[in-house]
Amino acid sequence: MRQALPVIIDCDPGQDDALMLFMALNAPEFDIKGITAVAGNVPLSATALNIRILADICNRVDVPLFAGAAQPISRKLVTAEYVHGKTGIDGVDLYEPEVKLQEQSGVDFIIQTLTQAADNEMTIVATGPLTNVALAIKQAPELVPKIKQIVLMGGAMFEGGNITPSAEFNIYVDPEACQIVLGCERPIYMFGLDVTHKVMSSTDRVAAIRKIDNNVARAAADMLDFFDRYDALKYGSEGAPLHDPCTIAFLLKPELFKMKACACQVETHSELTRGHTAVDFWHVTDKEPNIHWAYDVDREGFFDLLEQRLALYEN
Ligand code: RIB
Ligand code: CA
Repeated sequence: MRQALPVIIDCDPGQDDALMLFMALNAPEFDIKGITAVAGNVPLSATALNIRILADICNRVDVPLFAGAAQPISRKLVTAEYVHGKTGIDGVDLYEPEVKLQEQSGVDFIIQTLTQAADNEMTIVATGPLTNVALAIKQAPELVPKIKQIVLMGGAMFEGGNITPSAEFNIYVDPEACQIVLGCERPIYMFGLDVTHKVMSSTDRVAAIRKIDNNVARAAADMLDFFDRYDALKYGSEGAPLHDPCTIAFLLKPELFKMKACACQVETHSELTRGHTAVDFWHVTDKEPNIHWAYDVDREGFFDLLEQRLALYEN
């Protein structure tokens, strides 16, 4: 087997972040250096508790856990309890796990991990607002060459927005952070609503997950039952789009996705279109591509992979 890929995961759990973590935390393909929480779906106090609970459910309390930024770089925090519930992971009961957060801040952890990495070594997976990643880049730009790739969930182009007509939530919450990340000149693989809306959950897929006899799969099914309700109403679909697991699915099985090198800019001035990601999909400008934009996915293959990985848990 190839050497395990060193990975930092930054997220704002969120039920879909939780399924992303479930896919990552038992994957032998990854050497997960740490998980950092960021304010997003719910405040940092909640996302920081949620990464502890989710690591505990997966019995991966060996992975260091950190709290990162409590608000965007220069904006007031916007949260999404109306989608994810008050806890952010409604569907599972909250509890106080033994595993604690590290003292070090999430941003300092990212900087320290990059300092210790070789050039082109570290993969960063980001599935919340990009505040932590952007602050690390801003505070330590000399470390950017250590980043192998950034695999992020965010943005929208042909699909339109989910928090405003123009913007996807993660980018809307902290557009300035997105601007810093888009300018880092490292490989970026971006999974926006154009692709995540093609992996809508469904009753048969949730039933298949619930049949898997372990606690992690049961927690996944319980969270999906809750998470599906809002988006099912909104989109008239059977279930919700599984946004964040697309990042890990791509790292595990890139052939599931169709990607295109595009130039991408983000709106930071207009209030109407704040957070809009202008993805030059048809190359109508002469701007150099700075991202790989995901635009299609093998839905059945994605859900098969999710189920296969959930079934690997023993408890
Ligand atoms: O717009 C969807 C994204 O915003 C997902 O990452 C979801 O968890 C929220 O963070
Ligand atoms: Ca998220």
